[in-house]
Amino acid sequence: MKDKLIIFDTTLRDGEQSPGASMTRDEKVRIAKALERLKVDVIEAGFPAASPGDFESVQAVADTIKDSMVCGLARALDRDIDKAGEALKNANASRIHTFIATSPIHMQQKLHMEPEQVIEHAVRAVKRARQYTDNVEFSPEDAGRSEEDFLCRILEAVIDAGATTLNIPDTVGYSVPAQFGATIANLIEKIPNSDKAIFSVHCHNDLGLAVANSLAAVINGARQIECTINGLGERAGNASLEEVVMAVRTRQDYFPCVTGLDTREIVHCSKLVSSITGFPVQPNKAIVGANAFAHESGIHQDGVLKNPETYEIMQAEDVGWTANRMVLGKHSGRNAFKSRMTELGYEFHSESELNDAFFRFKQLADKKHDIFDEDLEALISEVTTPKEEDVIKLISLKAHTETGEVPQASVTLTIAGKEYNGSASGSGSVDASFKAIEGLVKTGADLELYSVNNITTGTDAQGEVTVRLDKAGRIVNGLGADTDIVIASAKAYVNAANKLLSKENKQHPQIADV
Ligand code: KIV
Ligand code: ZN
Repeated sequence: MKDKLIIFDTTLRDGEQSPGASMTRDEKVRIAKALERLKVDVIEAGFPAASPGDFESVQAVADTIKDSMVCGLARALDRDIDKAGEALKNANASRIHTFIATSPIHMQQKLHMEPEQVIEHAVRAVKRARQYTDNVEFSPEDAGRSEEDFLCRILEAVIDAGATTLNIPDTVGYSVPAQFGATIANLIEKIPNSDKAIFSVHCHNDLGLAVANSLAAVINGARQIECTINGLGERAGNASLEEVVMAVRTRQDYFPCVTGLDTREIVHCSKLVSSITGFPVQPNKAIVGANAFAHESGIHQDGVLKNPETYEIMQAEDVGWTANRMVLGKHSGRNAFKSRMTELGYEFHSESELNDAFFRFKQLADKKHDIFDEDLEALISEVTTPKEEDVIKLISLKAHTETGEVPQASVTLTIAGKEYNGSASGSGSVDASFKAIEGLVKTGADLELYSVNNITTGTDAQGEVTVRLDKAGRIVNGLGADTDIVIASAKAYVNAANKLLSKENKQHPQIADV
């Protein structure tokens, strides 16, 4: 019997810390449901002390998810732990993940604490967390740059205090595989009570080594990996779930453990996270990139046709790549639409929400003959769903472009219910549209990113546009989808502007507040 490798997904917490990737409560619940279908063992739903919105999101995930354990992050502070305990109250199975920094630079410069004080805080935090749940994880932040002897001391103390999982974070992505693997082996060997806890790792990808470091840790005794869908996360991201899981599954000759994941759900999760956050997946990304299973050169194709194993180490179907399926069309009725949405994990909260989505589906079906799952996902995500509470609404857009002429755009918006018209010229239709919108909404933000992706193939496909705005360090991603990319772009700009207006202030978990 092989050991179980616990997959701890932190897309909703560390993933969300990626600038511009913040998600609404409903979006988090949708992703959590997709992760539950993927059968991840633990879902880290957020940092409840960050803001009232984050608290509610963790609570909503805890209330909804039945099969995976739901975890909340807390600094080693009483008030953070109480918030996490409260947010997780209704979870079927809950975990509190508490942490404090242990590297000399973090202890001195960030915490202004002596090592002994750090141990005291850690022990106190774990004991307090145990009052809410018997499943407590402790992380010595920046373990990758901490002294091994100090790690041994603090980890021994928190196990005695009741920690059941010890997570070793390479917070700044500094480690390299052989050395990181050796650290895990040393900790397990040197800590006298190490057999009373599961060792976990949480690797950042600053040097592109997050997956390699995580797998080296597994070979050396770690039995939990913390990872995210598409490798989303702070800076260069975290270890990518799909790569970790498929490496372990594909190389069963090498790894001494198995995961319990239903890998056929991977691609769906990847597309969902990409569409909700507006972070596109590069085509050559392992496992979930559009080219990951494509063979172009004749010699490869010939080999694959004769025997797929000549050039394929995994089957595309095993991770959920199927040929785009035409699921619905112009003549599909309300019931067919609703039941496909339910199969995709989406529940409508009211009749009017369903009617609204069905109306948009019909509008799309008039423009686009074949409707794929990806179109449906986009239809219900923020991409095409203006919200009741949106202050700015796009009413109409007219863009004119002609060779040799300066492109022009005219736009009609409502702002807080009042109608405004504006027009502008630009270097292209998108530029002119953005200038016309900005002239009315006056966000004063800088446009940091503009990207367009095809949701499916074909020239009638919907284009999915991401617009990232930065206003004095507040970063938001706006999304828009339409069969016309100028309209998709305008929707994305308006979506970003609405987010700038509504974004609440959050506390970042890794900023000291003691
Ligand atoms: O990278 C890190 O150290 C973290 C901790 C909060 C576990 O995300
Ligand atoms: Zn992290």
